[in-house]
Order: sequence, then structure tokens, then C-alpha cells
Amino acid sequence: MKGLILSGGKGTRLRPITFTSAKQLVPVANKPVLFYGIEALRDAGIADIGIVVGETHEEIRSAVGDGSRWGVRVTYIPQEAPLGLAHAVLISEGFLGSDSFVMYLGDNLILGGIRDLVREFERDRPNAQILLAEVADPTQFGVAEIDDGRVVRLVEKPKEPRSNLALVGVYMFDSHIFEAVKAIRPSARGELEITDSIQYLVDSGRAVYPHMVKGWWKDTGRLEDLLEANRMVLDSFETRIAGEVDARSRVTFKVVIEEGARVTGSTILGPAVIGSGSEIVDSYIGPFTSIASNVTVRHSEIEHSILLDGSRILDIPHRIADSLIGKNVEVARSPLRPRAVRLMLGDSSQAGIL
Ligand code: TTP
Repeated sequence: MKGLILSGGKGTRLRPITFTSAKQLVPVANKPVLFYGIEALRDAGIADIGIVVGETHEEIRSAVGDGSRWGVRVTYIPQEAPLGLAHAVLISEGFLGSDSFVMYLGDNLILGGIRDLVREFERDRPNAQILLAEVADPTQFGVAEIDDGRVVRLVEKPKEPRSNLALVGVYMFDSHIFEAVKAIRPSARGELEITDSIQYLVDSGRAVYPHMVKGWWKDTGRLEDLLEANRMVLDSFETRIAGEVDARSRVTFKVVIEEGARVTGSTILGPAVIGSGSEIVDSYIGPFTSIASNVTVRHSEIEHSILLDGSRILDIPHRIADSLIGKNVEVARSPLRPRAVRLMLGDSSQAGIL
């Protein structure tokens, strides 16, 4: 069994972060989302992994390398444009050959991994196994209809959904999927849809089994979902303090302070993680906050947020919350007179001002 991780795409919903970076490398609890996927495949016993990459291929290659860090072998599969999930399968035929495989969307996170699912697929040997979860708003997802335990219909982002069962970003296929991805035509949005390919399998009488996901999963393609994923993962942490915390600081509940991080005169109320080389001075870091490496927070308060490498939060009089702050961003108090908010924001940035 092989693994195929999709790590191309446009990432429009996470702009402006995705103008300069791959969304699959945005860290959740200080680890890129993509790494959770690699680990899930590795833990399911899959050692041969293809990663489909697009414009951000260089960044992904330099973060993942040859996979030896995880004891897996990684092959990169360039996709010339994000032409759809089924297109990603189509161009991976050379790598996948006649093997069955797990297709894993590189921006998805499934707590508890996929070991049991892979075992179930290998035991039952359907032509495809799809993961489904009940969701509140099915119009945002690929949606499946089930009849008598079998998948009968799949629709991508239906306007009038006929069920609340959304496709979760992990699929298992045998090589019959290639016939399907070659047979279908692009959808109205110009993509080769994986839902259409699976529908083709259903219509050709192939066995497509559903599997209900009981545990927590998330597509981290939007800010709210990314913050929720961050919350879930941080909550599973135990306190570990390898960095320096001075006597004036207070560190409480599920806090990880990496080696080389320094906390002075501050309160850290976990779950939270502070990365190496970061400095927290006279500040409050509240629950569900991930601070990457070489970040400075001084005379400020921040909670329920993700701060990427090298960012600086200086002397901000209001608490910052529910935020994603990119690499090397500076948020600092403006000079007092004339009183004004002074911004230099990239395209598609969002700023919420009190
Ligand atoms: P999506 O999140 O559905 O698509 P996207 O990355 O274009 O994001 P947005 O809707 O915000 O513009 O993609 C799911 C995963 O699959 C994600 O990791 C990107 C990847 N992908 C590819 O590798 N190739 C593709 O052609 C597409 C559409 C997605």
C-alpha cells in the first residue's frame, strides 16, 4: 500500500499567508499540518509516500526532504496547476502503479490517525473506501448519500444537500480509480473532481465502502478551522519546560516552553507552546496559543492565536485574540501623536480594530 499526499492547491481561503507560503506548512501547535499527515501514514505502516506539489514545491521539499526523518521514502509529483483532486491522482499513476493507496489531503488533520481504517480497507478489499463525518453545513463539502450501507451518490459542494455526510480528506483506492479519473470531465469550476471519479466507480458497479469517522478531524484550509485544530492539538500536550522562565513569571497548565525560549515577568496560561529562540517579556500568553521560533512578545497580551517565526508583538494596549500572524510580521504601538492606526497590510490581509 502506498500513500499520496496532496500538497499543491491554491489556498485562496488562507490568503495572505498563502501568497508567500504553502498552507500545508502552516504550523498547528508548532508543527506543520503536513507533518501530521506524513506521521499518520507512517503510523499506518505506509513507507512509500508520493507528495503532489504545485507552486510551493521548493518550500515543501526543503521542509520534508526525502522523508528519512520519519523513516519513509518520499517521491515528489509536480502538478502543473491545481486542476483538481482527481487530476492529482491522474498524474500520480506512474508513482502508484498497480498498488492500492491512501490519498490524504495535506491540509487535513485527523486525531487518532488512520491505522484502523487502513487495516479495514486491507481486510475488506473494496475498490474504494471513503471517510464520512456528519457536519452542520454540508454545502461546503463533498457530500455522500448512503443507502443500505453503500455509497450511492456523491456531490461536490451541493446547494441542496441530500445528507449531512461530508467527505473527510482521506480516501483509499485500488487501481480502478485510474479508469475513473481518466473517464470524467472537468466540473463547472474547471477541476477534475474526486467526487465525480468516485461516482464513476459507483456507477460502474465497483465496491465503494463508507466509513464513519467518530473522532475529531479538520480541514485546516480556513482560519477558524486552523485555530480549532491548534486548540485540539495543544489540549493534548503535557507541560514541558526546557527554556528559561524567571522567578517573576507564572506558567500554568499544559505549557511547553522549548529550549532556547525565554519568559520574563510574564504569565503563560496554557494550553500553549513557545518555540525556541522566542522571548516573552512582561506579557500575558493565554490559552490555545502557539508561538513559533524567534518571536518577540513584549508588553502585550495574546490568546487563541498562532504566531509564525520571527514575528514581533510590541506594546499593544489591547488583547490580541483569534489571530494568525505571519512570518516576520511586526505589530507595534503607533507613536502617540497624531493618534492613528498605522498599517502596512499585504493583499487580502484582514485587520480587526477596536
Ligand atoms: P482544497 O483545500 O480543496 O483546495 P485549495 O488548496 O485550492 O484551497 P482553496 O479552496 O482555499 O483555494 O485542497 C485540498 C488539498 O489538496 C490541499 O492540501 C491542496 C491539495 N490540492 C492539490 O494538491 N491539487 C489540486 O489540484 C487541488 C485542487 C488541491
